[in-house]
Amino acid sequence: MKKIVISTGGGDAPGLNAVIYAVVHAASSRGWEVYGSRQGYMGLLDTDELVRLTIKDVAEITSTGGTILGSTNKGNPFAMPVENIAGDIQIRDVSDRVMKNFLRMGFFCHIAVGGDGSLEIAHKFAVEKGMNVIGVPKTIDNDLEATQLSFGFDTAVSTATEALDKLHSTAKSHDRVMVVEVMGRDSGWIAMNSGISGGADVILIPEIPFDMDLVCQKINDNQLHEKHYAIVVVAEGARAKDHEVMTKGDGEIGRSEKILGGIGRWVAEEICQRTGKDTRSLVLGHLQRGGSPTTFDRLLALRFGATAVRLAEEENFDHMVALSGEDMIAVPLEQAIKCRKKVPIDGDKVLTAREIGICLGG
Ligand code: F6P
Repeated sequence: MKKIVISTGGGDAPGLNAVIYAVVHAASSRGWEVYGSRQGYMGLLDTDELVRLTIKDVAEITSTGGTILGSTNKGNPFAMPVENIAGDIQIRDVSDRVMKNFLRMGFFCHIAVGGDGSLEIAHKFAVEKGMNVIGVPKTIDNDLEATQLSFGFDTAVSTATEALDKLHSTAKSHDRVMVVEVMGRDSGWIAMNSGISGGADVILIPEIPFDMDLVCQKINDNQLHEKHYAIVVVAEGARAKDHEVMTKGDGEIGRSEKILGGIGRWVAEEICQRTGKDTRSLVLGHLQRGGSPTTFDRLLALRFGATAVRLAEEENFDHMVALSGEDMIAVPLEQAIKCRKKVPIDGDKVLTAREIGICLGG
């Protein structure tokens, strides 16, 4: 009997459980056994953290947020933070142990569900250790070029849009400027999609370094239409011209990316100083990653999971499943991890935003 293992790595995204559901069902129907590795690669590092996943275990999880396997973004087996006897944290390469356990358990394939970081690790296992790997893209940021969309994004955008809808009434009551910082790392997709849909006056994205004069001019111009409030959406990775992207530091030991944040507050303070208007800022943060996946994300995640098992059956390893139009395709992992998807600055969304009077700060 064939045995496969599935892991979920990196920041969680609504739809992860739907992928697990589809993998367990699609594999079980082929007579395969499925195991889940807890907290990314932790189950492959310590087999006590491996769990057998049956159809009973995944009943009713499709509609739930988070991941039943847990996740981590500081669990790279090639550079793992490990505590030594003296209690100091050292970075060690424990990838051989992972591979040994993978073979010892008799797994013939690892389905790695993750973002760019996790997929890069999966590819490294395929190339350097000979692990049979299939990648499933997961990111609320929608920043993987190789797939038209990733699950979690639609839910994150819906949450952000709902928040913007709610902010209109309080902003209007107080004649205030509300500045909302949203996630997305170096891509402005969440800001763009929610900002356009949620009636923002200003949307600031990483792809267009902004000019505060233009932002304030838009807020002042609102008065011409007897609108005394404004909604400003700022992507966490956006930056003013001649300024750096704002970060909150390195974060936890073992994670490869800096934690972004702070730009929303900075923009709010600048607006207050320059226009004299009452201004408030808020960070939507992890609310965007929580909750039940939308119908769109569930369906996409289920299709990704079922396709991943199909690719495993075809032994199409070291590939990632991806959405292309109406189809599911397989993209070599090496290609998939290369390019980040950015909002095209001359694309339809940017044009639409400008045409309906939204200021993009540049
Ligand atoms: O990549 C997904 C994401 O939610 C980004 O939008 C955000 O910058 C980051 O993860 C936050 O990571 P953490 O959960 O570690 O704070």
